[in-house]
Amino acid sequence: MGPDVPSGHTYLDFNAPLSDARASELVGSLQPLAGARVVDFGCGWAELLLRLVEAEPAARGIGVDTDTVALARGRANAAARGLDARVRLVEADVTEWHGDPPDVAIAIGSSHAWGGTRAALEAMRAQLRPGGRLLFGDGIWEQPPSEDALSALGATADEFRSVAALVDLAMVCGFRILALSVANGDEWDSFESRWCAGRERWLLAHPDAPDAEAVREMLDEHRHGWLHGYRRVLGFAYLTLALP
Ligand SMILES: C[S@@+](CC[C@H](N)C(=O)[O-])C[C@H]1O[C@@H](n2cnc3c(N)ncnc32)[C@H](O)[C@@H]1O
Repeated sequence: MGPDVPSGHTYLDFNAPLSDARASELVGSLQPLAGARVVDFGCGWAELLLRLVEAEPAARGIGVDTDTVALARGRANAAARGLDARVRLVEADVTEWHGDPPDVAIAIGSSHAWGGTRAALEAMRAQLRPGGRLLFGDGIWEQPPSEDALSALGATADEFRSVAALVDLAMVCGFRILALSVANGDEWDSFESRWCAGRERWLLAHPDAPDAEAVREMLDEHRHGWLHGYRRVLGFAYLTLALP
């Protein structure tokens, strides 16, 4: 697809099924944050990290990601909101980045970087200081996946687990659970719709562009896979975890 075709990120506030209200609750679940050193592993454009440091003027944040476009968006947002003195966004692979042990780690939708959920939880345990907290967002199965769901996601059934099994795994990895929530249907529908909207709106404005047919086909395939495959089957859980 040509460079003029927008990404699915244009209309997303977060690259996850996450409402403003839940984002605020998640930040609250990580308190106390005064003076905290927070590292967001796989931060994307770091919107949650920015909201966290906005909510807690004495907190400082580092975001790590490999996506240069997302990082540039996050840096511009940080500067526009006067947060750039307290937030640093670093272009690096999260599996190779090391810094001083954070008080709070965030890893939302990035467990695949470590090869899966267990490896991500173990990596976060190794990074955090004892007594630190982790906000972990990861895929779950809300229902056993059908073949259509798996094929739409390009996933295998063992790639995700139930929310109960995810909590069990976090505890096996040494964490205690401070808070748990699961993205609701509205958050998912908003996430999927906004993801499609960037390209749908581009198509309306450029119906005869050379890439138009390919973009239309890709959107139709994506929407079919979502609505007829994984909608209300793939879920997303947010765990606030403590490392005793
Ligand atoms: C689903 S997005 C979530 C972004 C962000 N946490 C949010 O909630 O908006 C996953 C992010 O992980 C990043 N990522 C994946 N593999 C990575 C790696 N090995 N090192 C750094 N970032 C990685 C991607 O670039 C992407 O921004």
